[in-house]
Amino acid sequence: MRSIIDVLDLSTEEIEELTACAQDIIANPDAYADVCARKKLATLFFEPSTRTRMSFEAAMYELGGHVITMAGAASSSAAKGESVADTIKTVCNYVDIIAMRHPKEGAALVAANNATVPVINAGDGGHCHPTQTLADLLTIKLEKKRFDNLTIGFCGDLKFGRTVHSLAAAMARYPGTKLVLISPEELKLPSYVKRNALNPAGVKYTQTTDLEEALPELDILYMTRVQRERFFNEEDYLRLKDRYILTAEKMKKAPEDMIVMHPLPRVNEISVAVDDDPRACYFKQVLNGKYMRMALIMKLLKEAGKI
Ligand code: CP
Repeated sequence: MRSIIDVLDLSTEEIEELTACAQDIIANPDAYADVCARKKLATLFFEPSTRTRMSFEAAMYELGGHVITMAGAASSSAAKGESVADTIKTVCNYVDIIAMRHPKEGAALVAANNATVPVINAGDGGHCHPTQTLADLLTIKLEKKRFDNLTIGFCGDLKFGRTVHSLAAAMARYPGTKLVLISPEELKLPSYVKRNALNPAGVKYTQTTDLEEALPELDILYMTRVQRERFFNEEDYLRLKDRYILTAEKMKKAPEDMIVMHPLPRVNEISVAVDDDPRACYFKQVLNGKYMRMALIMKLLKEAGKI
């Protein structure tokens, strides 16, 4: 039974296939309206979410399927001490596919190892968020028309930002990728991401604390929120949270064709005034996430022989 824990579980050919499928869904939505009729998705969210849970649910409904949901560990038997493995063994009796978010790194793998239906990791702690990466990749494809030879600036919390880890690993597979890692010293990209994803692919990267200096050389600026929920110490969070704020004034230093991405939710790191800049793509990412989740649900259900 195939599950998706990490975006690298998908080959570059499969990423192309999913982005092509998503573009076909955009062009011909009616052709997909009944593809998952009588199939059920469970959304198990042990951690808060707006976009990921609701877009998975919207995706399944738009494919003609049904959804049952657990929005918050407090409303499930996890609150009584039930393990992830037992929860998954239970939920597999009710549905054809599961999307799960959990605060602990590795929880999605535990789920997949105990499942009899496909499991999609909807975010596991500070580790991975593969379907956000699929949303990001479709946005890059639609806005920049290519995956190769792009210079991407990741800015903010590169330590705990799981969307950064997943997108950096995905982009490392394309020729000519260059990364500019913009963060405070305390929130630098973890060395395991460099060791496992960037170095083996020979990806060129630089590290800096200066956003404005980096802006002129970027094709894509990927802003991130400082992840308060993953800090051990509130004092450190308060000290670092407003370190980078992208403003309309700073955008004057960016190339005319640079795009601004952000996985959202935003706190203060992008001024609301930037939303009116045609280079701002973060709400496009939200919609693209629904199309890519539709494509992924169909792919996994097809491979499992369920549709
Ligand atoms: N981007 C993202 O994962 O958003 P949510 O936390 O709202 O799902």
